Amino acid sequence: MILLDGKKTSADIKEEIALEVGELKRREKKVPHLAAIIVGNDGASLTYVNAKVKACERVGFESTLIQLPEETTEDELLNEINILNVDNDIDGFIVQLPLPKHIDEQKVLLAVDPAKDVDGFHPENVGRMALNLPTFISATPFGILELLERYEVETSGKNVVVIGRSHIVGSPMSILLSQKRKVGNATVTLTHSRTKNLEEITKEADIIVAALGIPEFLKGDMVKDGAVIIDVGITRVADPSKKSGFRLVGDVAFDEVAEKSSFITPVPGGVGPMTIAMLLKNTLIANKRRNS
Ligand code: GUN
Repeated sequence: MILLDGKKTSADIKEEIALEVGELKRREKKVPHLAAIIVGNDGASLTYVNAKVKACERVGFESTLIQLPEETTEDELLNEINILNVDNDIDGFIVQLPLPKHIDEQKVLLAVDPAKDVDGFHPENVGRMALNLPTFISATPFGILELLERYEVETSGKNVVVIGRSHIVGSPMSILLSQKRKVGNATVTLTHSRTKNLEEITKEADIIVAALGIPEFLKGDMVKDGAVIIDVGITRVADPSKKSGFRLVGDVAFDEVAEKSSFITPVPGGVGPMTIAMLLKNTLIANKRRNS
């Protein structure tokens, strides 16, 4: 069994990005600038956004964090988005999700200029992704493709089973892996809560992407020997023995599945760290597109 080490791989990618930023600086070009908007005080969201901003600093990007109070109206948020859309200094920005209930998420995602949509959530970018056109691929699916590529995991002609049909992970992952691309050309089955006989399907899988958000859902007896396992789950489970009061648990029962697998992502340290590296990569791409 080989661990798909997202921590190390993301560090490698960040190092590569930092080298490119160094080169931009040497040539007196503008360095990438990422902005993030967060509305409200959700602990997990604040942690993620702060990690994104810190990662920007580490690779030499500029970053701007816009923290808005929970009671911010939809119009006020749309106004902030418009300011970033027209700000020539900003190459890309994200609006951290989830948003408070009184704000319409679809309206917000539609308001982001697709050229600055480094999350790849705008319907135009999702459509371009589905058509295999140049776009911003969302950080989590992009990170999974990158991990598979760097560990030279063969996907062509393989049976891939994706568990979970979220707009952010399951759905794009199933589309991307079925496409004619370097990491792709797979025969993909997208499964979800209404799927019948899931176990029969997962047992036939060469590669499983577990992205349903149920801790330790995928058990050892659901996978065949030699399968490649990508665990996208990161549920916080109460753990009084930890300083934070919780531990992160994936969608895969790690020990029993790892025994049977050829490659597997750990949680934490697998897919999670890759997402920030790929957000930075998208921001670098946005900067290059804007300045070319
Ligand atoms: N919330 C959870 N994941 C993400 C992400 O990738 N981008 C944004 N904007 N919000 C998130």
